[in-house]
Amino acid sequence: MIMLASLIPYFAFIYIIYYLFRKSRREGKIKISGSNINCCVGKQYPGGPLRPFSPVFYEDAKLKTAPWAAPRVSDDILETLPKNPTVEENGQTTGVHGRGCLGKYGPNYAADPVISRINPDTGEIEFALIQRDETPATWAIPGGMVDPGEKSSITAKREFNEEAGGNLDNTSIIPVELYSGYVDDWRNTDHAWMHTTVFHWHDANCSSLGKMKLKSDGVETKKAEWIPYNDIKSGKYPMFADHARYIKMAVNNIQLF
Ligand code: BGC
Repeated sequence: MIMLASLIPYFAFIYIIYYLFRKSRREGKIKISGSNINCCVGKQYPGGPLRPFSPVFYEDAKLKTAPWAAPRVSDDILETLPKNPTVEENGQTTGVHGRGCLGKYGPNYAADPVISRINPDTGEIEFALIQRDETPATWAIPGGMVDPGEKSSITAKREFNEEAGGNLDNTSIIPVELYSGYVDDWRNTDHAWMHTTVFHWHDANCSSLGKMKLKSDGVETKKAEWIPYNDIKSGKYPMFADHARYIKMAVNNIQLF
């Protein structure tokens, strides 16, 4: 008994350390997932060890007035809405409940146009990529969100024309659908996630699309350039979300030509 009693200070000490550790994590979590998140400038939810122990509810303030956002649902309905399929599959929360920065509960649809060419001077495969103002640390396929009632193949063309200054409207090259499904995107929450459809146009002779001069729109995009695949592969151009995966799929597709 006396032995046990003498251990109490040790247990108390361990408990205090544990309590302080949990407290600091909780505070970090609340600070990051509260008003400090500014989705508009591309800040990310905490990843890895900074993910909260238990999910926090977060919906960006801009969703209250954004014309593209769905109305907010009440908390009791929230739990009955479709759940992020990876959360269901892995039994592991994203750390965020609600929509986070996304406009809709459930899937948020995007479309991505992958445009490639073989550079006639170097013989290398090159891709039309952009650097966004919001996410300057990464390069991206010039895709975007599907407007209500729009077909994803139309979105892909529209976004390319807008963001990379090209013209996909009159090309005779027929695109191949490379992928349609879930995106590993930092904005995903337990109740809202990104879903994209990826289309691939390849100009093997660099005779039409490959001749396009790319141009950023100067608002959403900072740069629009033809980037050699080898430089993407080597990591010189870190890619946004799952985009490196789609580029790889396009390379496999080119090899079938
Ligand atoms: C981007 C797409 C991207 C999607 C999923 C959208 O905001 O415009 O290019 O594939 O998010 O990450």
